Amino acid sequence: MLLNRFFRLFKSLLSIGSIMPQASGSACPIREFTINPAEVSFMNKTPSPSGSITIRNLESAFAGESMAHIKYRYFAKLARKAGDEATAAIFEATAEQEVQHAFGHLDLLYPAATLTPSRALEIAIEGETHEYTEMYPSFRHLALEEGNSQAVAEFDEQIAESREHAQAFRSVLQTAAKRFAALARVEERHANHYREALAVANSTKESA
Ligand SMILES: [Fe+2]
Ligand SMILES: [Fe+2]
Repeated sequence: MLLNRFFRLFKSLLSIGSIMPQASGSACPIREFTINPAEVSFMNKTPSPSGSITIRNLESAFAGESMAHIKYRYFAKLARKAGDEATAAIFEATAEQEVQHAFGHLDLLYPAATLTPSRALEIAIEGETHEYTEMYPSFRHLALEEGNSQAVAEFDEQIAESREHAQAFRSVLQTAAKRFAALARVEERHANHYREALAVANSTKESA
């Protein structure tokens, strides 16, 4: 069955390639292909760091659904600007369904029972930090080399925004940690009071 899906996808890619207007000059025709990562995720044979191919595929499917969501919202915005309300409406309705698909994958990737708000903040900080310390700086460097000043400006903006997001998450996490520490001290005081009361009750019982 997987093999069948692979051949179907391969055939459809070939047919897209043959009907696409072939770019003249040095433009690479592969740029004309739009491959939905969710559709090709079944080809992922590299295990995730946890050693599971299925987890890796869920991550790919999540990425694909998330991208479809944003892409359809963007298409809806353009369609509405062009005065095509019907096209805008179907893109928006479908975008909403893609969010639900992405949530379904997240339910399996981050089971609710294992994800505390603190853990969620840590994951978010890790992602944003990766963006502003590694991903965008390397993209910026390459955009600079290619002389794409618009992309350099866009990446600069994203570096600043990702840093801000990471800092905002970090400060919420720190506040939460302080709150938990304060709560733990209150709980400890309560536990000590109960222990004292129990000791008094036991000694009264023994002396009776
Ligand atoms: Fe979907
Ligand atoms: Fe961000």
